[in-house]
Amino acid sequence: MIDEGERLQKVLARLGFGSRRVCEDLIADGRVTINGRVAELGNRVDVETALVEVDGAVVGMKPHLVHYLLNKPAGVISTAEDTHDRRTVVHLVPAEPRVFPVGRLDADTEGLLIVTNDGELTHRLTHPSFGIEKEYLAEVKGVPSRAALRELREGVELEDGPTARARITAVEPSLLRITIHEGRNRQVRRMCEAVGHKVTRLVRTRIGPVVDRRLKPGEWRELSREEVRSLEVAVGTGNSGGGLDSDR
Ligand code: URA
Repeated sequence: MIDEGERLQKVLARLGFGSRRVCEDLIADGRVTINGRVAELGNRVDVETALVEVDGAVVGMKPHLVHYLLNKPAGVISTAEDTHDRRTVVHLVPAEPRVFPVGRLDADTEGLLIVTNDGELTHRLTHPSFGIEKEYLAEVKGVPSRAALRELREGVELEDGPTARARITAVEPSLLRITIHEGRNRQVRRMCEAVGHKVTRLVRTRIGPVVDRRLKPGEWRELSREEVRSLEVAVGTGNSGGGLDSDR
């Protein structure tokens, strides 16, 4: 029984699917689903959590929210504003509405960064308790030994405490794919340095379920509704399961 939230026809009308009457017809014709089940007249939805589809296409119920995926180039800082007037990531995406980066990449780090005005999603993506996975490609000086790779996998001692287990693959002798679910300051660089290998280039290649191999440095695109949805599920605000441990 879906008996909480707003009436479905009212939500659909607000989103531009037509008058309430037209939206009632959409529902009566079986063209609308809520969380995968065909909706009925009288159903209500929680716009924060429900997955509503019309004719199989996901309906974005929070139209004021924007979610950009930026491929951050090296040399750009990832704060919303800079006290020294330097170029920041928000200068690389549309100025309106006002948006903020989700977490930080070091100025020297390249790769995927989400920039959004969605405060709830930002909070969850950056809060350590949600443990969203981030994957990096790290070019390092020298060739890490098997023991060094094992150490990185099992956790290394940093000045702010030991790191959690990580997934480490040597893609090439001096190129590591590193997947972590913490987000400590300069973590990947510090982890590699702790085992004797300075990082010479660092690129973030995945944020939870979001990847993009075609986006060039400096380019951005909007995340699709499905991608936003998959992020919400990964941090437990979606309704397809997920939760604190879903991404580990
Ligand atoms: N780890 C780092 O060392 N730097 C980043 O920018 C992100 C993760």
